[in-house]
Amino acid sequence: HSAVDVIRAKRDGQVLGDAQIDWVIDAYTRGQVADEQMAALAMAVLLRGMTPAETARWTAAMVASGETLVLDGVRRPTVDKHSTGGVGDKITLPLTPLVAACGAAVPQLSGRGLGHTGGTLDKLESIPGWRARLSPDEIRDRLDDVGAVVCAATEGLAPADRKLYALRDVTGTVESIPLIASSIMSKKIAEGVQSLVLDVKCGSGAFMKDLGQARELATALVEIGMANGLSTSALITDMSVPLGRAVGNALEVAEAVEVLQGGGPPDVVELTLALAREMLEHAGLSDVDPAEVLADGRAYDSWCRMIRAQDGDPEAALPRAEHVEVVTAPETGTLARLDAYGVGIAAWRLGAGRARKEDDVQHAAGVLCLAKPGDRVTTGQPLLELHTDRPETVTGAREALVGAYEISGADEVSTPLILDRVV
Ligand code: URA
Repeated sequence: HSAVDVIRAKRDGQVLGDAQIDWVIDAYTRGQVADEQMAALAMAVLLRGMTPAETARWTAAMVASGETLVLDGVRRPTVDKHSTGGVGDKITLPLTPLVAACGAAVPQLSGRGLGHTGGTLDKLESIPGWRARLSPDEIRDRLDDVGAVVCAATEGLAPADRKLYALRDVTGTVESIPLIASSIMSKKIAEGVQSLVLDVKCGSGAFMKDLGQARELATALVEIGMANGLSTSALITDMSVPLGRAVGNALEVAEAVEVLQGGGPPDVVELTLALAREMLEHAGLSDVDPAEVLADGRAYDSWCRMIRAQDGDPEAALPRAEHVEVVTAPETGTLARLDAYGVGIAAWRLGAGRARKEDDVQHAAGVLCLAKPGDRVTTGQPLLELHTDRPETVTGAREALVGAYEISGADEVSTPLILDRVV
């Protein structure tokens, strides 16, 4: 094989063979195909596309580039959820212990946030003592016992993706559906779960801005899962408005705990239950009603056990910001729009996110949305709370919110949260 032949074949619109794909991914992982060659191939894939069969094989080759987690010893059905990322998306926090309390094992290998979308590990690290790093044996023990683990993905899973993603980031080749889908699925397949539910976000705060693109990504993800022996389905859900009221690490943990204690914003509860039902169906546990398990406190008990099993104190006070300012309603009417992207950028500027991988996040920073679309507001009423330890960031956050909300005279119809289901 030669890298140039593979690049030429894709450049000219040919379908790559299994042997070509296996070879190029393996040789790239081992450093025998150079970054500039892989960059050219990624660009050819972006421009020419890949068939579902090529994409499934590309994913399998990335899984084979590293270790997979072996979950055979776990005495519960294994199921995972992956969200393509959004603003205020803390659903993993209530969902993982809820589905575990229903009888499944949920290994949620997560990442940190980059840009305006948050990372689950950053959120949980606002809990005093909690640690993200677990060994494969610790993961298996906790899955068997508590049924719920949220931890950092180990370095050894899908190393080809780690390398390729960094390369795509600097070569304008992120926005290819086959490359995005294979990247996401290689990490999930390497986790060793039996089934997977995808939450494909759609709207201003998401990667996919419209429903057509979101359907295309969801279909590609489900096809890859099925082709690789994973029972897979996807929900497409709205990300034009922040999810819930809290955006920012400790603020989101507090909101997740409210949900686990039977309260919380209705959209967070709705999506948590919808994803739980989807996961329980895959796990063969569809006779369990997650609403009951949430209401009677079993999900909250499961959360406390999950946090303690990773040395966190679920009862400890969460960090609070030193500085809080409000944005008030400029007029009376109905809040017609609250833009997820604008709120996400504001939270990020306040310190909830990082600009470079090496940066630290401020655990207490973020935005609390005191009103959501459809709510009546009056002039001067607080709409948003800006939380930060660095008051000098507030001006930038306020700028990000200019034009991010709209108050109208009419009663607006809100968009549904769950837009489609792909199986
Ligand atoms: N998330 C991933 O893991 N990979 C991509 O390519 C894009 C988003």
